[in-house]
Amino acid sequence: MTRKILVLPGDGIGPEITAQASRILAACQAHGLDVEVEEALVGGAAYDEHGEPLPAVTLDKARAADAILLGAVGGPKWDKLEDLAKRPEKGLLGLRKNLGLFANLRPAITYPQLASASSLKPELVAGLDIMIVRELTGGIYFGQPRGIEVRDGQRVGFNTYVYSESEIERIGRVAFELAQKRGKRLCSVDKANVLEVTILWREVMEHLAPEYPDVELSHMYVDNAAMQLVRAPKQFDVMVTGNMFGDILSDAAAMLTGSIGMLPSASLNESGQGMYEPCHGSAPDIAGKNVANPLATILSVAMMLRYTLGEPTLAQRIEDAVGKVLDDGLRTADISSEGMRTVSTSDMGDAVLAAFEAA
Ligand code: NAD
Ligand code: IPM
Ligand code: MN
Repeated sequence: MTRKILVLPGDGIGPEITAQASRILAACQAHGLDVEVEEALVGGAAYDEHGEPLPAVTLDKARAADAILLGAVGGPKWDKLEDLAKRPEKGLLGLRKNLGLFANLRPAITYPQLASASSLKPELVAGLDIMIVRELTGGIYFGQPRGIEVRDGQRVGFNTYVYSESEIERIGRVAFELAQKRGKRLCSVDKANVLEVTILWREVMEHLAPEYPDVELSHMYVDNAAMQLVRAPKQFDVMVTGNMFGDILSDAAAMLTGSIGMLPSASLNESGQGMYEPCHGSAPDIAGKNVANPLATILSVAMMLRYTLGEPTLAQRIEDAVGKVLDDGLRTADISSEGMRTVSTSDMGDAVLAAFEAA
């Protein structure tokens, strides 16, 4: 059966990086992947065209798709929009919420070739392979009440950090199951010394643990986790945490791999539908210059093949092609170092495609 893929380039570097990832997707089609690919607008690009960051036509196409590939959204052009609901970021959050994409997998893997591109000592990151499991449709990002209002003559801003037991349990299960397939160690990250919501989080994780006797569960406060990630990151196998902590820790983990331009992600719902996107943003500072690193987006296509399309062989072929290109010394500016060949976004796309075809 032909499956549907929706590509949402978005803003800033989004169109440049998704263009390279789309070429790899097209190569997969040429190698027998039976998919139909369509494009639509999201974020600032959609706001400019339709006055909404997530137009109904895009949401309808997203609902109908088996998998979505998203570039990035946002940028200074739209930061001054007073109505928060019109901001590009709301387009992304709306997709996650409407499609129920609660499980965000962010693998931080340091390619051996890039160990020296990290800001940490190579021996600390060589061989690093962490899976961060971030809850994506709850927590403080979506809690009610929220707003800015006048109280006692001054404005106050407020958000609500809330998780139900069932929300914690379902993300916990995803994390335990992933840990079972990997190094069998799960670290749950919370702030249970201060916040009730994470006291409950810890309790639910403990409650699940006996069902996964082969997984060793540990708990860590988020401040310590941030510190441990840069002190000794290889102590971690799978980490599970809430929406905001996961957002922050995954950017920190990205740097361990050499650049945020290397970190792909999968956001899955209960029926296996997935949205795939790099963890980074629209990088307005380098947009339009053909210098952004497209590898996180290309590796997101590999995750799509693995997690939604059931094509692990093609996924591996993409990952191997990326490894080959790095072996050959090609680097975009963000991961470049002495002795390497610094290439553009499209050159990197060309090289990965050639390595993919040659495999
Ligand atoms: P960012 O990730 O866009 O950029 C942070 C830094 O990393 C910048 O210096 C940028 O040049 C660099 N960078 C990011 N991706 C890169 C790549 N592929 N190759 C090379 N360098 C790269 O984060 P920011 O500057 O905080 O946010 C910019 C905009 O992106 C904001 O509007 C923000 O809301 C949005 N954003 C969107 C997403 C998303 O769509 N998933 C994620 C994060 C931020
Ligand atoms: C991410 C981004 C988003 C988030 C923003 C753009 C809404 O930072 O995907 O990591 O905070 O989840
Ligand atoms: Mn983020």
